[in-house]
Amino acid sequence: MTIEKVSQEAKLFLTQYFNETDKPYEYLTQRIAQVNSEIDQKGYYTQTYDEIVYGAKLAWRNSNRCIGRLFWERIEVADARKADTYEEVFDYLLSHIQLSFNHGRIKPYITIFRPQQEKKNIIKIWNHQLLRYAGYQTEEGIIGDSDSIQFTKICEGLGWKGARTNFDILPLVVQIGDNHPQWMEIPDDIIPEIPIEHPDYPEIASLNLKWYAIPIISDMRLEIGGLDYIAAPFNGWYMGTEIGARNFADEYRYNMLPKVAEKMNINTKHESNLWRDRALVELNAAVLYSFKKQGITITDHHTAAKQFEVFEKHEAAKGRDVTGKWTWLIPPVSPATTHIWHKPYTNDILTPNFFYQDKSYQPLSCPFH
Ligand code: ARG
Repeated sequence: MTIEKVSQEAKLFLTQYFNETDKPYEYLTQRIAQVNSEIDQKGYYTQTYDEIVYGAKLAWRNSNRCIGRLFWERIEVADARKADTYEEVFDYLLSHIQLSFNHGRIKPYITIFRPQQEKKNIIKIWNHQLLRYAGYQTEEGIIGDSDSIQFTKICEGLGWKGARTNFDILPLVVQIGDNHPQWMEIPDDIIPEIPIEHPDYPEIASLNLKWYAIPIISDMRLEIGGLDYIAAPFNGWYMGTEIGARNFADEYRYNMLPKVAEKMNINTKHESNLWRDRALVELNAAVLYSFKKQGITITDHHTAAKQFEVFEKHEAAKGRDVTGKWTWLIPPVSPATTHIWHKPYTNDILTPNFFYQDKSYQPLSCPFH
């Protein structure tokens, strides 16, 4: 981003912040003047704590793929912009896991490291999510999560050794500046995981499935007022279908539907008895049941859709349009039972927002090996 663009984006963001919150009348003009003089001197500016907090909330509110946006004002922010050493960064990441888990009452949470514009000692998180299972391609087929195969190779290249079970939690991998990345194993006792069982089909437990409690996306860029926070891991809580209908069910992921159908004693010979659909529904019921049994926050897609409808009403009442990406907002199970199915959404991209960014590592070949 050019300096002009940063100043332009800063002005837009500060104006929105001013308009949506009650600030004294002089605030906006004074702050814009201050920000511009900072930009003139250093090429970027430093946002206040309140600005990054409001920016993070807006980024969530503007996330077109997210059905959970009713709670956009509830995200808590850890201001990690001072973090400078590997030790400090790892400490922030481990606290993020613990504080967002909150003994099972999961809190939407974001840890914000210094923005790219500061240039010195830029912090990069190589993980896609802070908690994620490794995946290995072996002669006998894939072990673990196929979604992680490339990153798992990188980790092994850096000296990490996976136990090669289907559920090995990957290490945290961080790079500061152009230094060699460092990795650390997440201590077992802070990894919340839920064994999957079904209240009516006890056999499903014998599949030995489990999943981690919190989806903490750590590879997206948070853009606020012209600044790029390229390390800003954030989380909400899971919607059951993400695990039950995608992570466990996709053929290219854990591919469990045939095994679930077998445990349910359903014939899988013909498609027309809908064994896939029946297995899918019960697998999803098992995920929701298991999380709830352990007292860990999770939502089902019907509740989430209703909450999204409330969000749409709130936004309309404020005179704002809700942008959305329909293909992502509809749940992968029974989508037409939700109101989302039946209406269009415009996928306009507003900022602040979260954006995809290039991977911090070279796929397959690690630059340090
Ligand atoms: N779908 C991703 C997964 O299964 C997580 C994406 C974020 N999800 C969320 N509920 N905030 O790991």
